[in-house]
Amino acid sequence: MNHFDYKQGLLYAEDVPVPVIAQAVGTPFYLYSAATLTRHFQAVDQAFADVDHITCFAVKSCSNLSILEMFGGMGSGADIVSGGELFRAVKAGIAPKKIVYSGVGKTAEELHYALTTGILMFNVESVQELAALQEVAARLNLKAPVALRVNPDVDPQTHAYISTGLASNKFGIAIEAAAHIYQAAADMANIEVVGVSCHIGSQLTTVAPFIESLHKVIGFIKELAKSGIEIKYLDMGGGLGIQYEQEKPPPPAEYAAALKEAMAGLDCTLIIEPGRVIVGNAGILVTRVIYTKATGKNFIIVDAGMNDLARPSLYNAYHDILPVLEARDDRQEADIVGPICESGDFLARGRMAPVCEPGDLLAVMSAGAYGFTMSSNYNSRPRAAEVMVKGGDFQVIRKRETFADLIRGETGSENG
Ligand SMILES: Cc1ncc(COP(=O)(O)O)c(C=O)c1O
Repeated sequence: MNHFDYKQGLLYAEDVPVPVIAQAVGTPFYLYSAATLTRHFQAVDQAFADVDHITCFAVKSCSNLSILEMFGGMGSGADIVSGGELFRAVKAGIAPKKIVYSGVGKTAEELHYALTTGILMFNVESVQELAALQEVAARLNLKAPVALRVNPDVDPQTHAYISTGLASNKFGIAIEAAAHIYQAAADMANIEVVGVSCHIGSQLTTVAPFIESLHKVIGFIKELAKSGIEIKYLDMGGGLGIQYEQEKPPPPAEYAAALKEAMAGLDCTLIIEPGRVIVGNAGILVTRVIYTKATGKNFIIVDAGMNDLARPSLYNAYHDILPVLEARDDRQEADIVGPICESGDFLARGRMAPVCEPGDLLAVMSAGAYGFTMSSNYNSRPRAAEVMVKGGDFQVIRKRETFADLIRGETGSENG
């Protein structure tokens, strides 16, 4: 359920007609609905209300400061994967004691920054990272709270690029090899073992892989307890999918019920790291048709490209594309493409699309997660604006970049 609907043939975001925003801010722009963000955050968080838990929103999925502030205000923590994401989370007022830090390549500088910030837990992904963390913590005379990210070798049945819990993926430490690394960690002077973490992939559309990995992790926690290592936090990552096309992912309540049942009797605080399920369907990308052409094939050329929304080019991902002025009956098969100089620059291919004319507005649906955050300046295109709608009001929450932004920091005769 989201708040992007047609009223009298015109697409609205909550109570604002989308063309009104396009007129005010130009195109392309990302448009988020505050009501949808709130509703989705609460649907996930409240599904776990009866167990001791922390919802750590996955900042990588959508990292705008205003959105992080909004989630922080609802009690969210943050799952971060870089120093930059830590900076954003802290700026947004998220309590450090609700921040968990994952990622295979944390640098010594990033470890230092997170240690001095006082985050809840480092989800350590290798023996070398553990040693580096011990070294940085010793230098600071601090104790680093640690979970090892274990890789349970479970197939999440999702796109290969967003599958992370298979033995062949770069993430985590094989669960079979993890016990003796926990022992080593427990013996380190500046490491405090506090958790176990696991994240098997993104856009999962069934509960079964979560439960299969949860059983493996719980078995492992019990094994650790026998050797005297007590685990306070069980971090099950994110990954719950959304409907982009025909998928039927389990609703958060069903996912939560299955996790809680599998965890019954375990004395741990549960951490979840949802991203896509909260923001995916709470945002759209609005773009304008520049030209159309038929060269044996129909092309609709729009002003948003793969630099604005990478998912179709990167994963061949499907996004529904709707006309902002509700479609006339005439439709044609077309590729909807951007202005980037790559044949791989498309938002949709072979799609039955409304017949468009230059100037028409289109809405790329379900673009709230991994949309703006994966955007770039490729082809020296300033990144799009981000806008938030709340009831009948809207606000630019990130200005469209300018040409001057493109060369900031570069040297050159005209640029100091
Ligand atoms: C460690 C970790 N946690 C959480 C997430 C969020 O996943 P999702 O957006 O599918 O919920 C990711 C995304 O890949 C991740 O790598």
